[in-house]
Amino acid sequence: MVESRVPFWYHRRMSEASHTVLLTADEIAARVAGVAAEIRRDYPEDTALHLVAVLTGGCIFLADLARALDRPVTIDFVAVSSYGAGTRSTGHVRLRHDLRLPVENRDVLIVEDIIDTGATLAWLLEHLGRGRPRSLRTVALLDKPSGRTVDAPVDYVGFTMPNRFVVGYGLDHDEQLRHLPYIASLELPAVTASGEPEQETGQPH
Ligand code: PRP
Repeated sequence: MVESRVPFWYHRRMSEASHTVLLTADEIAARVAGVAAEIRRDYPEDTALHLVAVLTGGCIFLADLARALDRPVTIDFVAVSSYGAGTRSTGHVRLRHDLRLPVENRDVLIVEDIIDTGATLAWLLEHLGRGRPRSLRTVALLDKPSGRTVDAPVDYVGFTMPNRFVVGYGLDHDEQLRHLPYIASLELPAVTASGEPEQETGQPH
């Protein structure tokens, strides 16, 4: 594990934050290849997979997974929101951008960066299920089982994570840091941007 100052230039208080690299780029790449192999084993060789990535965090994982699958794939995106302005899921999932392609008779794989409460995935399974796909499975790079409040099956999991606030490889803090090639936990200074102590420092992901 590597602990260091975060290259935070975007937010003054973030200069006081430190981060710990939990998963290096090499570890992520190896596990993405492993997950792709698990998926290949479960579908007949001639199956064309329809990957539905959940924006925004899922886009980096999708790009690597799609190439590691070594199968014909089609790709679509959906955007939902359940966090509002806060850091805890409200549990009320709102559709912000719907699918472009029909899922009917396709073998659909929902691609998520992280599962925490499970509310988003449960909502998506119901939403996509209504489109009558031939099959519907789920893959998440990270799973935080300790955060689960809604039952949502994750068929393929990259890494099981503790309840830490993580950034990188698609995951953001305040829309920043998605580009980091590794995944790190972020220890935020316990003050707000105005310098006041934060009421709540815990964050779901
Ligand atoms: C994250 C993640 C999942 C969801 C999981 O998205 O990409 O979609 O939260 O949380 P849950 O299991 O508690 O429902 P987020 O709302 O942070 O949007 P983002 O991907 O645009 O950052």
